[in-house]
Amino acid sequence: MPDSSISKLFEKSRKERLDIVGTFANLSSDELNILQNENGGISYENADKMVENAIGTFSLPLGVATNFTINGKDYLIPMVIEEPSVIAAASKGAKIARIKGGFEVTADESYSIGQIQVLDADESAIQKITNSSDEIINLANSKSKSLPKMNKGAKEITCKTIDTPSGKMLIVELLIDVGDAMGANITNTMCEAVSPLIEKITGGKTLLRILSNYSTRRIVKARAVFEKEAVGGESVVDNIIKAFEFANNDVYRAVTHNKGILNGIVSVANATGQDSRAIEAAANAYAAKSGQYRSLSLWSKDSEGNLIGELEIPLSVGIVGGIITVHPVAKVCTKILGVASAQELACVMTATGLAQNFSAIHALSTEGIQKGHMRLHARNLASSAGATSQQIDEIVQKMIEEKKISLDGAKELLKQI
Ligand code: MEV
Repeated sequence: MPDSSISKLFEKSRKERLDIVGTFANLSSDELNILQNENGGISYENADKMVENAIGTFSLPLGVATNFTINGKDYLIPMVIEEPSVIAAASKGAKIARIKGGFEVTADESYSIGQIQVLDADESAIQKITNSSDEIINLANSKSKSLPKMNKGAKEITCKTIDTPSGKMLIVELLIDVGDAMGANITNTMCEAVSPLIEKITGGKTLLRILSNYSTRRIVKARAVFEKEAVGGESVVDNIIKAFEFANNDVYRAVTHNKGILNGIVSVANATGQDSRAIEAAANAYAAKSGQYRSLSLWSKDSEGNLIGELEIPLSVGIVGGIITVHPVAKVCTKILGVASAQELACVMTATGLAQNFSAIHALSTEGIQKGHMRLHARNLASSAGATSQQIDEIVQKMIEEKKISLDGAKELLKQI
């Protein structure tokens, strides 16, 4: 089984990194070329088919996080993000989690929720819908060739009423097993297809027919044990728990804390071509499910004093359909991950979010984030200046001591040693 604990990947050249990732994921030379293509992704022709008024494409850095073991399997995790330190932080969190076996993650099946808003329905509408649920489900499933064949597709109907300033409304919800797709399109198609039948059954008038991005039937739960000594000892473990309590009880801190979690999740979402806005909207709603916006993660310690991290989020992702069919880099990134299902991808993304959160609150409750951030920045500059792996540590140390953290400073120091 490939091993993701690759030490000092940041000190290697681009070619060495690509060789390592290529061997790990068994990438072909074509796939390696796609990663090296400086255009970094889709062609203008494809962009022009995807959005209106296209004038170009836009690329961002792609890196890989190391050290991840998730449910007993090793992963190198492609992450697309503009922010420094995030990939290093995820790798560091995963390295410590690895000591105790890595991340254990479970994901619900991929049930998408479609909503149909019904106005002016009569009192017995809910009963009538329940009586006709087979007919509605069959009509919904007639809109997909592939899902029913895989024993997936529309499975359940639920109804609720809501009170609004315009009066009572009936909301019919269609639960659809969308398999390995994110499922927005098929959910919207099915909702629109069944709405005339729902009008006929209820005597009401349907208005909105749309997927809900609050994907509470796609919950993912990750857990990892962070060994006490590797975390920095008992007092650091206790301070991390206090940092969590701050986030869990103060909305201003909770938003930033959860943003750190989303740094991890959204970077993988970007790399694999997911709808990151849907993911963030659902995660933020879930953070407020108690009525107060709180931390999405939970930090505690076990009887031996090891730190326990848990993260539970709704996560709607896919490995078929969507942008992945047109974006060559997203395709290669999904291959690097080696995920066989949407659920496996959701598990990887949630573990990345938890690792990221660990490293952020670890840094914040010890030395602060700026020191590590500057050290990393200095390391990248030393490497860009042409320092060898033997020279990097010395140059970084000097740049920090002399407070000269720039490319020119790194070049100057390189000349001197
Ligand atoms: C920065 O992008 C993310 C952090 O602010 C997260 C946090 O404060 O927990 C470091």
